[in-house]
Amino acid sequence: MEQFFSLKNKVAAVTGGTRGIGKGIAIGLAEAGADIALLQRSPEDTTTKKEIEGLGVRCEIIPCDLEDSNQIKKAIPETIERMGTLDILVNSGGIQRRSPAVDFSEEDWDSVLQVNLKAVWILCQEAGRYMVPKKSGKIINIASLVSFQGGLYVPAYASAKGAVSQLTKALANEWSHQGVNVNAIVPGYIATDMNTALIEDPIRSRQILERIPAGRWGNPDDFKGAAIFLASEASNYIHGHLLAVDGGWLGR
Ligand SMILES: NC(=O)c1ccc[n+]([C@@H]2O[C@H](COP(=O)([O-])OP(=O)(O)OC[C@H]3O[C@@H](n4cnc5c(N)ncnc54)[C@H](OP(=O)(O)O)[C@@H]3O)[C@@H](O)[C@H]2O)c1
Repeated sequence: MEQFFSLKNKVAAVTGGTRGIGKGIAIGLAEAGADIALLQRSPEDTTTKKEIEGLGVRCEIIPCDLEDSNQIKKAIPETIERMGTLDILVNSGGIQRRSPAVDFSEEDWDSVLQVNLKAVWILCQEAGRYMVPKKSGKIINIASLVSFQGGLYVPAYASAKGAVSQLTKALANEWSHQGVNVNAIVPGYIATDMNTALIEDPIRSRQILERIPAGRWGNPDDFKGAAIFLASEASNYIHGHLLAVDGGWLGR
């Protein structure tokens, strides 16, 4: 089994590792043996770094505000310089803005598209520039149920996540024969800070719960297995796939 799923001697760069799904994934990859570069905007937030170092692997924080394209462009080269290589990229950083479409501000539209789509594109491109010549690498983007469905009051988020799933497939088409796997994980309804408003709304949260076949909201630990799988040898022939971790939501 170890030959399929071990990430020993691998280096993974993870955005969104300070909290939520990205934190669960970063810790999961570290538990499988990977050294981790946390691409985050707050270098002073060392909570995840300390947890990962407690697992006996290396962890470095690389400055990366996903609203700042110049910082994003530098993050992958800096990761490679400080960690020695890059084998895995996980794009989990993201933001949500909810409002009826007629009131949705241009500022919110630009922020959501920048963080949830353009940052993903730049990081994939920078990672590809390193992984394609070395003919190996694993890229895991985090899509959404609204990559498939329109959602309600989230026009910018649905647009960005629809595009993330298409970007994943577009890059897989180019890079699959060059040894680089590009896939995406599709979270269902996950109990993280991003969903505080939904969780605190008793009617909406009950309606959502009733529609989840697994009978519970997801949590960040639910993503460890899928991320290790898509980052490891076990998924070498899987390209451009959108792997739902949704308690059965999409199948219903
Ligand atoms: N939760 C769900 O139900 C759900 C469903 C489908 C898809 N997703 C997707 O899953 C991913 C993770 O979501 P989550 O629920 O874990 O969200 P979360 O708990 O709100 O965490 C968001 C993460 O993104 C980071 N981030 C936001 N803006 C950033 C910026 N400008 N620069 C750097 N980092 C930034 C945050 O860092 P800071 O700590 O610095 O703010 C944090 O680590 C997102 O792509 C989200 O769209 C979530």
